[in-house]
Amino acid sequence: MTRTITIRRPDDWHLHLRDGAMMQAVLPETARTFGRAIVMPNLVPPVVTGAQAAAYRDRIMAALPDGMTFQPLMTLYLTEDTDPADVAQAHADGIATSVKLYPAGATTNSASGVRDFDKVRPVLEKMAEIGMPLCMHGEVTTSDVDIFDREAVFIETVLDPIRRATPGLRVVMEHTTTSHAADYVRANDQDLGATITTHHLIINRNHILVGGIKPHYYCLPVAKREEHRQALVAAATSGDARFFLGTDSAPHPDHLKEHACGCAGCFTATNTMPLLAHVFEEAGALDQLEAFASLNGPAFYRLPANDDTITLTKSDTATAFPAKIDCEAGPVTVFDPGFPVYWS
Ligand code: NCD
Ligand code: ZN
Ligand code: ZN
Repeated sequence: MTRTITIRRPDDWHLHLRDGAMMQAVLPETARTFGRAIVMPNLVPPVVTGAQAAAYRDRIMAALPDGMTFQPLMTLYLTEDTDPADVAQAHADGIATSVKLYPAGATTNSASGVRDFDKVRPVLEKMAEIGMPLCMHGEVTTSDVDIFDREAVFIETVLDPIRRATPGLRVVMEHTTTSHAADYVRANDQDLGATITTHHLIINRNHILVGGIKPHYYCLPVAKREEHRQALVAAATSGDARFFLGTDSAPHPDHLKEHACGCAGCFTATNTMPLLAHVFEEAGALDQLEAFASLNGPAFYRLPANDDTITLTKSDTATAFPAKIDCEAGPVTVFDPGFPVYWS
């Protein structure tokens, strides 16, 4: 039996496109399905200024294959030296949609991130004034905090104090992985949103570690216990407008994932929407997929939803997704959910 659902075209509110040959290879995987994406600034060197963001946006548009439409929404990488006036100008000029906060050392290419949160206070105050959202990689980085606790400790010791000290600041907790994050969002107001990735709705920490280590399931924040995965599914399928899709699709060449010190990141741009249809159907909530993937994100960012639609089709035979995408630096493995998916 064939079954179809048609929804507004989705957007991706947290995406890594990289640059150069890697961007050329992965950009069509996103642009084929998504209308817009919040593009992460963690290049080497990072995208810090409005001018750098405008140049990066132009490189993305130049790499877009003929006939594809896609709008990159740019982010500025927050450093302790970021100039509030440059941020405000980039926002006013429509170059930068949001600012991205990486605690220094938290994840891939985060060395220029923030160590002393007091130093970025003037930028955050300016952002609250102009209504520009702050995207956060929400993990503390101190070695005494267990990696599985880093998100929960961040909420308590960094996020909540920053929000209390900066009334009106609009914050997106990105790639949330715990029930603590879902509960914190629910307990707060409309100025706080949260993205949830494709892979965190599917894997828990056993998938990474049981039966041999699976480097392609390793990402940051690392997947947690099953009860947390279930809390994320409940949040994503609830219809609560503060939860929306940010795939965090993060390509790394296989030789750097399958390595003694493997990179963090799952590459889900290719198959996210079929996987989400599967997850939402399993949860009995296919009717909430459009809100999560296509409506809640634009509402948070105060943008209109996309006008056009996509159609997802379920058939009796499992969908064959490409196992890898070819890049100049080597193949990039496409996220494998570990079960057959009948949606395409
Ligand atoms: C991301 C990357 O590779 O850039 N990796 C990841 O595991 N999520 C960085 C990030 O979003 O933290
Ligand atoms: Zn991150
Ligand atoms: Zn990311």
